[in-house]
Amino acid sequence: MLMPYLIEFDTVGEEGTGFLTYAQTDSKIPFEVKRVYWVYGTQNDSIRGNHAYKVGEQVIIAMKGDIRIHLEDKFGKVFEFVLTKASQGLYVPGTLWRKAFMNEGSILLTLSSEIYSEENYVRNYQEFKQ
Ligand code: TYD
Repeated sequence: MLMPYLIEFDTVGEEGTGFLTYAQTDSKIPFEVKRVYWVYGTQNDSIRGNHAYKVGEQVIIAMKGDIRIHLEDKFGKVFEFVLTKASQGLYVPGTLWRKAFMNEGSILLTLSSEIYSEENYVRNYQEFKQ
C-alpha cells in the first residue's frame, strides 16, 4: 500500500530578500501534476476535506500557517502530520481519508495527479470503511 510521507523541497534564498521553493514532476513530485487547487479564507478551527479519492495521488503544501493533516486508511490506521513550512509538502495517496485542520490566514495548496471529477470522490465515511 502507498504510504504518506513528508517531502522537503529544494529552496534557495534567505531572510530579507526571500525564499524560492521549487518542485517538478520526477524531482520530489512522483506523478504528473494535472491540477492544482488552493483553499484560503478559512476561520480558526476550520476542517476541510473529510473525503477520500478512488484513484490518484496528491501533494499538499501549507503555503501559509500551520496546517494539521489527519489521514486514515480503510483499516483504521491513522497518520498525522503538521505542515509548518512552505518549503515542505506531504505526499498523500488518494485512497486515504483526509481532513485538513486550518486556521484564519492559512493557505493550503494541493497538487493532484487527476483532473476534477466528482465521481472520483468517496464522501461517505461508512462507505469508505467497507
Ligand atoms: P472539495 O474537494 O470537497 O473541497 P474541501 O475538501 O476543501 O472541502 O471541493 C469543494 C467543491 O469545489 C466541490 O463540491 C466541487 C468544487 N471543486 C471543483 O469544481 N474543482 C476542483 O478541482 C475542486 C478541488 C473542487
